[in-house]
Amino acid sequence: MSRIPAHVAFIMDGNGRWAQAHGLPRHDGHRRGASVIKKILRIAEKNGIKYATFFAFSSENFLRPESEVKFLMDLFEKFLQKYRKTLCEKEIRFRAIGNLSQLPISLQLAIEKLTQSTAHFDRFHLTIALNYGARSEVIEAMRNLLKNKDANAENLTWEDFEQYLYTKDLPDPDLIIRTSGEQRLSNFLLLQSAYAELYFTKTHWPDFNEEEFLLAIEDYGTRERRMGKINDKPND
Ligand code: IPE
Ligand code: IPE
Ligand code: MG
Repeated sequence: MSRIPAHVAFIMDGNGRWAQAHGLPRHDGHRRGASVIKKILRIAEKNGIKYATFFAFSSENFLRPESEVKFLMDLFEKFLQKYRKTLCEKEIRFRAIGNLSQLPISLQLAIEKLTQSTAHFDRFHLTIALNYGARSEVIEAMRNLLKNKDANAENLTWEDFEQYLYTKDLPDPDLIIRTSGEQRLSNFLLLQSAYAELYFTKTHWPDFNEEEFLLAIEDYGTRERRMGKINDKPND
């Protein structure tokens, strides 16, 4: 394969529609969706990707029925507990991004524990976006920036500002994959994706698999990332 993205971010959409199509409750779609993360991580590692970020719950998803929100929160917690051993064995560093303080306490503790116990790893980086919303991220960043007495508006640069974002330790995503046919970002990493390549597939997240993932990586390899510049080969 030609060019491999260093950081791939996934908007895992379509769990509910997958369940509906199979005559199952939405919960079953979420359960199967969570298991896909593990498979995708293995393929990412195998293909030389170093960072994988998964959008699991947006700040707006709190507007869903309480029973679904509760089910998802429990599912996230169980996922982190079950996956802990594997992450440590495989030396994968775990992070969570989003407004974590609004999550159930037991989930916050599970996140903290996993973050701490994998903080020394650098081989592969798994990030889960939970109660994440790009607009809230910017507001929180601005609040913290304004509290910093040393910050100087005149000299403020992007490099300074990004230190206040949840993603301050992560490189920008190179490729964003969204499943289930919607072609939008839904408030995900809006600033960090300034130059990300976007890939959309109609497949629902619970059916996303190795073949689909490799197609997305292959497609990324054909993209010309100019970042505002012009090609190396001038035509005059
Ligand atoms: C993505 O699947 C998972 C979350 C947003 C938590 P959805 O639950 O959005 O599934 P659809 O879009 O209703 O099919
Ligand atoms: C985006 O999916 C959030 C996650 C995948 C976690 P949604 O299903 O919430 O997005 P919209 O409502 O279709 O934009
Ligand atoms: Mg959806």
